[in-house]
Amino acid sequence: MAEQVLPNDHQEIVQLKEARKVYQMGMQEVNALAGVTISFKKGSFWAIMGPSGSGKSTMMNILGCLDRLTSGHYYIEGQDVSQLDDDSLSELRLKHLGFIFQSFNLIPQLSVQRNIELPLYYLG
Ligand SMILES: Nc1ncnc2c1ncn2[C@@H]1O[C@H](COP(=O)(O)OP(=O)(O)OP(=O)(O)O)[C@@H](O)[C@H]1O
Ligand SMILES: [Mg+2]
Repeated sequence: MAEQVLPNDHQEIVQLKEARKVYQMGMQEVNALAGVTISFKKGSFWAIMGPSGSGKSTMMNILGCLDRLTSGHYYIEGQDVSQLDDDSLSELRLKHLGFIFQSFNLIPQLSVQRNIELPLYYLG
């Protein structure tokens, strides 16, 4: 991973501690994240790099609160979000997270404007 930190701000806002994600494939277990401990400081930019199957998407799904860890902890601004229920995770995503997907995940029946307005509607 490559990190670029902007000056004057070194507060850690996102932390993974011993983060594990195991996918169950029938009888087989896939260790997609095998105990990742890492901190991201406010104002820093990161690129997550690695070969296919190394767990990049798995980690992004965890960081984006789209999926949950099998074990370990995920802190956002000190709050352990690993234990939050689905509604709380949705609320957190709505208010604090932005995600640009590889496929755009737009709603095809809606115009561009309506697609943009939809999360604003849920924000009130
Ligand atoms: N839903 C799933 N069920 C079972 N195994 C999965 C699932 N998603 C990912 N995996 C497995 O977990 C491991 C990590 O996959 P992941 O998609 O996170 O890798 P990646 O680094 O994003 O790969 P790529 O560069 O191809 O996008 C792989 O062995 C993959 O086969
Ligand atoms: Mg991927």
